[in-house]
Amino acid sequence: MSLFSINQIRKTFTNGEVEEEILKGITLTLKEGEIIALVGASGSGKSTLLTIAAGLQSVTDGQIIFEGKNMSAMNQEEIRKIRASQFGFVFQFSHLVPFLTVEEQLQLMLDVSEYQLKKDEQKKEVNRMLELVGMNHRKNAYPSSLSGGEKQRVAIARALIHQPKVLFADEPTASLDSKRSKEVILLIRQLTKDLNITTLMVTHDKEMLAFADTIVKMSDGVIVHKKESIK
Ligand SMILES: Nc1ncnc2c1ncn2[C@@H]1O[C@H](COP(=O)(O)OP(=O)(O)O)[C@@H](O)[C@H]1O
Ligand SMILES: [Mg+2]
Repeated sequence: MSLFSINQIRKTFTNGEVEEEILKGITLTLKEGEIIALVGASGSGKSTLLTIAAGLQSVTDGQIIFEGKNMSAMNQEEIRKIRASQFGFVFQFSHLVPFLTVEEQLQLMLDVSEYQLKKDEQKKEVNRMLELVGMNHRKNAYPSSLSGGEKQRVAIARALIHQPKVLFADEPTASLDSKRSKEVILLIRQLTKDLNITTLMVTHDKEMLAFADTIVKMSDGVIVHKKESIK
């Protein structure tokens, strides 16, 4: 089933007097349980597309349809609600809060998300999620004592604790060595399948493409290539 569709998206930025079209009519359909890798040279518009799809930036033209609803026509509050309840985010750096333990990072996310759970259920859910990313044994640790790969695992758990439908990941392995990168990508792939979410992931890493269902290559604001990955 198509969960998400991006129809003819255009985005223009104005720098002083100069108008520059960064996205020039992007169309893409995302299905449940699918991992889509977005590749392309630096500056080709990958992060802009990702943030627009996630409702973090407005479009100049075109539509983002999520579960049949046109997000581009929604007001800020309606978009915020969708983001808080249906979307999860992972970036290059984990952005964990330094003075919170692993467990508390996830707890905080539950507190600010729209996901309603009783206190005792919250604890169970936090444990379950940490189990899924293999970090339950470090639940009382602070970020400073974790490795880069472990921090990303916690960031992934935090991104998924409120049971979103879509995971947006912008170069989640860019600061990891190749062994850790592979582990993190395999984890994202496993969770995408097991939780039946949709993952849109920007990556630079060629090795990671084997784990995507679809690879979309961007160049200068357009999709130049799209293929189903050979697995
Ligand atoms: N807020 C902004 N204002 C002006 N130009 C921007 C803005 N955000 C991105 N750009 C420009 O859009 C282009 C694409 O950027 P980006 O989407 O970050 O590319 P990528 O993630 O593929 O490296 C770049 O040339 C960048 O400078
Ligand atoms: Mg980028």
